Order: sequence, then C-alpha cells, then structure tokens
Amino acid sequence: MSNNNKRNIPIAKTLFDEKDIANIIKPLESGWVVQGPFVKQFEDRFSDFTKAPHSIAVTSCSAALHMALAALGIKPGDEVIVPAFTWIATANAAEHLGAKAVFCDINLETYNIDISQIEEKITSHTKAIIPVHLFGLPAEMGDIITISKKHNLHIVEDAACGFGAYYNNRHVGNFGDIGCFSFHPRKAITTGEGGMLTTSDEKTAGLLRTLRNHGATTSDFARHNSKGAFLLSEYNYRGYNYRMTDIQGALGVSQLEKAQWILDQRTSKAKYYDKLLADVDYLKTPKCPDHMIHGYQSYVCLFQPEPISFAKLPKLNKIRNDLLIALEEVGISTRQGTHAVTLQNYYRDKYKIKNEDYRNACFADQLTITLPLYPQITEEEQQYVVENIKMEFENKL
Ligand SMILES: Cc1ncc(COP(=O)(O)O)c(C=O)c1O
Repeated sequence: MSNNNKRNIPIAKTLFDEKDIANIIKPLESGWVVQGPFVKQFEDRFSDFTKAPHSIAVTSCSAALHMALAALGIKPGDEVIVPAFTWIATANAAEHLGAKAVFCDINLETYNIDISQIEEKITSHTKAIIPVHLFGLPAEMGDIITISKKHNLHIVEDAACGFGAYYNNRHVGNFGDIGCFSFHPRKAITTGEGGMLTTSDEKTAGLLRTLRNHGATTSDFARHNSKGAFLLSEYNYRGYNYRMTDIQGALGVSQLEKAQWILDQRTSKAKYYDKLLADVDYLKTPKCPDHMIHGYQSYVCLFQPEPISFAKLPKLNKIRNDLLIALEEVGISTRQGTHAVTLQNYYRDKYKIKNEDYRNACFADQLTITLPLYPQITEEEQQYVVENIKMEFENKL
C-alpha cells in the first residue's frame, strides 16, 4: 500500500468529553484533591453498575491485587495460583507479600486459566487463586468456585480487563472474595491510572478502606470534616498509601455515565471484526461461550495457519512479527495479546521455567495479535485494518 494512504489507527483511544473536562476541574475549584467526595461518588456509581455491594477505589489494579491478597492474610510461604498468560502484575501481587506465584497454563481458545490443570497445582501451601478475566472474557468461575471450595482457597478475581464482562448474567468481580479492576487508559473507562476493589463482605470492605490509607481507622476527608480533626487517626494495621485522588474520582464519575454506551460501541466494533474476519481461517477470532458476555477490553486473535508446535513456533512467530511491522508501516497499531509471565526473566530464572512447562501461554505470547478497538474507530478504518492483514498474510503464507 502506498504511503499516500497511510493512516494513524492507534491500538486504543481514550474518550473524553466536555463532561469529563468539567468534572476534573471541580476538585481543583474546591481545593480538595485527595481521596474525598468524588472518590466516594465514583465508588457508589461503580457499585450501581456492577452490583458489587462494596467498591473501594485505589491507585491501580496492581495496587488492588496487592492489597486484596494482603487483606486475605497471604504471607511468606503461601502459594497463590495464577495463570501463566496474564499481565505480570497478577503474579507480582503474590510475590510482593513473600508468597510464591504458582503458574497454571491457559486454554488457548479463551486465553483464560485452564480449569483442568488447576487441581494439580494445589499443595498444602496453596491459599488463593487469582483467575484473570483476560481481555474482557470471564474465566470459568463456576468451576473455579467448586475447586476453591473443595480446597478451601480464597479467590481474588483479576478483573483488570473485566469491566462490562458478565458470567451467568452477573458482572465479574462478584464471584470471589475480592474483585480487582483497572482504569488504565487501555481499559473501557479510565481515570488515567486507577483501580477498584469489589467485595460482598462488609468486614473485608472496611479492612480494605483502612489498608489503602496507611491502616488509618478514619479517612482524611471524614477526619477533616469532623470536630477534633487536629488529632490523627488510630493505626491498627500496617497499611499502604493506595488512595485515589479526587481528580481521578471526578473523572471516574463522568466516565461511568457513558460506560454502557462505550461498552456497546466496543461490542459492535468487535462483532464487525468477527464479520470481516469470518473467511480468514488462519486467524482465530475471540470466542465467547453462551453463558458469558465479553467486555472486549481487547480484540485478540491467534495466528494459527496450521497446528501449532514448538518446532513450528519460531517460523510462525516470525510471520506474526513481520505482519505487525508491516501493519505499523501502514499506520495500524497492534500489540501481542499480553505476555507469558513465565517467559519473563524474573520468573523464568527464579523458578527455572522452561517454555514447554506452559505450552499454551508460550504459544499465546508468540502468536496473538491485538487489533485496534475503541468506540471512535470507523467501519472504514476496520476494513482498512482487515484488508491490510489479508494482503500481508496472504503474501507470506
Ligand atoms: C490482567 C491484568 N492484571 C493487572 C493489570 C494491572 O493493572 P494496572 O495497570 O491498573 O495496575 C493489568 C493491566 O493491564 C492487566 O491486564
């Protein structure tokens, strides 16, 4: 394709309108910019949307995962089961507490944890499992709950990508002890950086509110607005500073107002890719079983022109990477789906991991392709993406 036709189609695009701009100014005008009334409003609206009984806002999903495991008492010597193909933050949450991240391979159709392999990973040290709703597709929560009940394990749902994703018509984040969401700009709604914990347990919610604020018994806003504010809170726990700012909270409130529209747009654009790619048999488009609703945080395909094996992987990986380069040259931004945490040097060296140990995670790392997806992308731009994929692949295969 000639350079005259060059576009600029990013992998993701934030959607901010006048309401967002008007909202973020409000804390600046009031002068209260740390966790305060807007964060509270954001939490309440988030609970309205997800039907989670309690929502607790924090600085990121990584912070949420860390704090969730801390609140559940995860400590050195404990083991936490995590999928091998996820963002590294999922595993880091366990390791930051001195626990061991125990990896489990994924299902290559869903990119989520392979249910059939979980039980063989459980030992007497296993205390929790972190299913990830990767790219917006719910993990198979029914089976995960059965396994966790049988072995008395906590569940922390990594719902970083799970906003707008439903399992049996229930929003994700409502199945485990605690759910953790991300508002990074590549997610459906964003507060810049930001995260949310959800739980149905009032005591856990109280503990999380305390832990995010250094372990203080009272929030700064409550103390500031009561008599006797000159005396500091009591500290019963060793907590963290994971408080969200009220500027982020204000943005979260206005982002949530248009959340359903954003999700509907993402879904219809994803379905349009499904249609455009229906006759492309070397790219496996995202699957979604009937009892789930995909949130389409990302539209991730698997490049699989032939059955995948380790022998063929270097060749197939090279074709995939060459395609991503070619797409970049015509102004189309793509990404690999996410990474296999088991291929990252920190974990590979620490646990002496071989590629074959987590076969599907390795294949997904090397062969996935994320296509641009955001509410503003036009059908014509999506056609351009698919035409270029077809042209490049068909030249190479
Ligand atoms: C599966 C998963 N878990 C955790 C995170 C961390 O989220 P955050 O960037 O909000 O810390 C991400 C980020 O993309 C993610 O994809």
